[in-house]
Amino acid sequence: MSGDELSADLERALAATREAGDSDLENRLRPARLAEFIGQPRVREQLDLVLQGALRRGRPPDHVLLSGPPGLGKTSLAMIIGTELGSAVRITSGPALERAGDLAAMLSNLVEGDVLFIDEIHRMARPAEEMLYLAMEDFRVDIVVGKGPGATSIPLDVAPFTLVGATTRAGSLTGPLRDRFGFTGHMEFYEPEDLELVVARSADILEVDLRPDGGREIAFRSRGTPRIANRLLRRVRDYAEVRADGTVTREVARAALAVYDVDELGLDRLDRAVLAALVRSFGGGPVGVSTLAVAVGEEPGTVEEVCEPYLVRAGMLARTPRGRVATPAAWRHLGETPPERDAPDEIDEQGPPTLFG
Ligand SMILES: Nc1ncnc2c1ncn2[C@@H]1O[C@H](COP(=O)(O)OP(=O)(O)OP(=O)(O)O)[C@@H](O)[C@H]1O
Ligand SMILES: [Mg+2]
Repeated sequence: MSGDELSADLERALAATREAGDSDLENRLRPARLAEFIGQPRVREQLDLVLQGALRRGRPPDHVLLSGPPGLGKTSLAMIIGTELGSAVRITSGPALERAGDLAAMLSNLVEGDVLFIDEIHRMARPAEEMLYLAMEDFRVDIVVGKGPGATSIPLDVAPFTLVGATTRAGSLTGPLRDRFGFTGHMEFYEPEDLELVVARSADILEVDLRPDGGREIAFRSRGTPRIANRLLRRVRDYAEVRADGTVTREVARAALAVYDVDELGLDRLDRAVLAALVRSFGGGPVGVSTLAVAVGEEPGTVEEVCEPYLVRAGMLARTPRGRVATPAAWRHLGETPPERDAPDEIDEQGPPTLFG
């Protein structure tokens, strides 16, 4: 690879880095240290051990994979890993690594101990992924120069670094890639109590006059997701300032969330559209996810990665080998009567499912 090619690649990687960065506001609300990171007790404890161990040994820690639905704090944790280690974090994302050269440019610029964060790592192109295996294992890349029989491969050393990968679909990572991570943190939806703390913390930072009951209301309707909790807080603040005296009470929160189409369980329009299609168009299922996605005019990936995890968690939808099925709770949530089934209905017998039971 010539110097020019390398710098063009670097430019592209840098542009991708800027794209991968989040909005300013999200950055302001991001916890900066592990101790500030609310909830996820398991991942936090596990990660703390990984980082402390590495710091004691004075060596970069094993590569870390963070998986879970959007908005649960994967990017935040990646930045925290850098801060806790006192290392710089280089940011890129799977879709930006279209060619192996894109990745080579990133890797060759790393300094010993750097953290390389690859967001949406499951969307990386195959040649880049293959280059990454070698870099993760041996801190080396082979750069192929030229084409056809004349092509030669030039080995290049990479400074020892820690890869942090984030993915919303751990299942679609290839085995070899998954195996090269020394630690995988599985992020779970947050408990409402944890989200109350998230909302209270954000209200402090944004100087919103939030009452505890207002915070609780927002937390309960945030789909177990801190990003949504922060977004709802900002919308409720608008409402409080425009239509009330600026204080966020339970009543103000409820009135505001009604305006924004967030229902009692925190389901948004797309969640409800998926449930409504499942129940009203497909008789409660089973129906395949692609059919369901067409019915609501969305990409199957969005339905699968954004809607379904929470609907499953909320006890509204079940994934079966034959397709998606609405639970009796879903029928009732839409104000419909669940159909009589031949087999005793296990979910029904446990009484009305609670969101976080
Ligand atoms: N544990 C937490 N404590 C406080 N705030 C949090 C926490 N986790 C996430 N947040 C807030 O939620 C926002 C979204 O988090 P983040 O961007 O890290 O999620 P993500 O998992 O990377 O999402 P995506 O998959 O969409 O990239 C952050 O800006 C931060 O304000
Ligand atoms: Mg992210």
